[in-house]
Amino acid sequence: MKKIAFIGAGAMAEALVKGLIAAEQLPAEAIWLTNHANEARLQELHSEYGVSITRSRTELLRDAAVIILSMKPKDAEAAMLYLKEAKLKPGQIVVSVLAGIHTSFLEKYLPEGQPVVRVMPNTSATILEAATAVAAGVAAGSYEMRLVSSLFETVGTAVQVEEEAMDAVTAISGSGPAYLYYMMEALEEASIQVGLDAFIGKQLLIQTFKGVAKMLEQSDLTPAQLRANITSAGGTTAAGIGVLEEQGVKAAVQACVHAAATRSKEMGQAFTK
Ligand SMILES: NC(=O)c1ccc[n+]([C@@H]2O[C@H](COP(=O)([O-])OP(=O)(O)OC[C@H]3O[C@@H](n4cnc5c(N)ncnc54)[C@H](OP(=O)(O)O)[C@@H]3O)[C@@H](O)[C@H]2O)c1
Repeated sequence: MKKIAFIGAGAMAEALVKGLIAAEQLPAEAIWLTNHANEARLQELHSEYGVSITRSRTELLRDAAVIILSMKPKDAEAAMLYLKEAKLKPGQIVVSVLAGIHTSFLEKYLPEGQPVVRVMPNTSATILEAATAVAAGVAAGSYEMRLVSSLFETVGTAVQVEEEAMDAVTAISGSGPAYLYYMMEALEEASIQVGLDAFIGKQLLIQTFKGVAKMLEQSDLTPAQLRANITSAGGTTAAGIGVLEEQGVKAAVQACVHAAATRSKEMGQAFTK
C-alpha cells in the first residue's frame, strides 16, 4: 500500500499510527494526518512518529489507498463535505471508526461505488490489544475487507461482521473494557476490605485477569466449564459465587449489555439513511 490518510488526529488515530508503524506495514512517512485546527497536535505526532502532516486536502488524499475517518461522530458531516468536494478516485477506501454512524450515511456524500468500511475498535488499541469488528458498506468487497482487517490487526485482533451486528459489537467489545474496569474497581475495593495491601491486591488482580483471558484463549472449555472445574462444593469459591447468584449479578450484566446496545442503536438513528 502506498499511503494511508487520517482525517482526525486524536487518540484513536494515534493508536493506529503506533500499530501500523510497529507492524512495519508501511513507512512512517507514508502515513498522512490532518485535523480540524490543532497545529501543535500535528507537530507532536510528526516529531514522535515521523508521520507526514498536512493542511492541504490535495496532498493528504493524493494516492491514499485508505482514508480513515477518525473524528468524533458529531464532526462526521463536516468531514464528509470535505471528502465530497475532494472527488475521490474510484477504489480509494473510506474507513470509518466513528461509533454509531451507518455506512449508508457516509455513502450519501461519496460517488456511487466508492468502497466504505466501518470498524469498531476499542480503547485497548492504545496498547495494541484492541478487539475490532469490521463491516462492509455496499461497495466494499472481499479485497477491501481483507485490507482493512489487516490494518486493524496491527492494533489487536479483527473480526468481520455484518453491519447489523455493530450495535451488539459496541455493547460487547466497544464498551466492554469499561465493564471490566468496573469489575476490577469492585474487586480492588474488596481486596482492601478483606485486609490486603492495596498495591499487592492490585498486582494479584491484574495477573488474575490476564490468566483468565489467556486460559479462555487457550482452552477448549467454556467459561461455565472452567468455573465449574474450580468450584468445589462447600469451598471458598462456591461461597463467593453463591452470593453473586443470590444478588442476580448475571442478570445485571446481561441488562447492562442490552442497555448499551439499545443506546448505540438510538445514537445511530440520527445518522442512518
Ligand atoms: N478512543 C477510543 O477508544 C475509540 C474506540 C472506538 C471508536 N472510537 C471512535 O474514534 C473516533 C475518534 O475518537 P478519538 O478518541 O480519537 O477522538 P479525539 O481524540 O477527540 O480526536 C478527534 C480528532 O478529530 C479532529 N477533527 C474534528 N473535526 C474535524 C474535521 N472536520 N476535519 C478534520 N479533523 C477533525 C480533531 O481535530 P482538532 O483537535 O484540531 O479539533 C481531532 O484530531 C470517534 O468517532 C470514536 O467514536 C474511539
